Amino acid sequence: MSKRPLIAFLAVLLTAAVISGCAKKEEPKPAAPAAAPAAELSASAVEGKILLGELCTTCHSLDRITSRKESKERWAEIVKTMQGKMSSVLSEESAGKILEYLSTLPSN
Ligand code: HEC
Repeated sequence: MSKRPLIAFLAVLLTAAVISGCAKKEEPKPAAPAAAPAAELSASAVEGKILLGELCTTCHSLDRITSRKESKERWAEIVKTMQGKMSSVLSEESAGKILEYLSTLPSN
């Protein structure tokens, strides 16, 4: 009887072992950054945070906003766009405060 099937089987086993061995060599996970101390928010950023929760969550979730990592410039664009959708509700002053708060969120 030929030994070929056995050799083929062993080859498959070896390949599987090599592949799974390689799969384990993942990039070392970067150490979780130490929780940054909550930055002190200015009074108007605190107001902005409240306004954001009150005014910006009627059409979509808060998470959809705060999970984003945007620069202050990009936040300014976003707030402008949203203001266009809700100009009757969002005054320039409130928009400014919201922007101030959003700019304190982590960005890339
Ligand atoms: C009148 C309804 C409405 C209000 C109020 C509103 N938004 Fe939006 N927002 C939308 C819609 C609709 C979209 C998705 C479509 C689009 O981008 O035009 C959106 C998208 C967004 C996005 C992008 C989300 C994504 O997944 O791309 C962000 C960020 C955002 N809004 C922030 C805000 C902020 C900040 C406020 C408060 C200043 C706000 N929104 C208030 C309607 C609203």
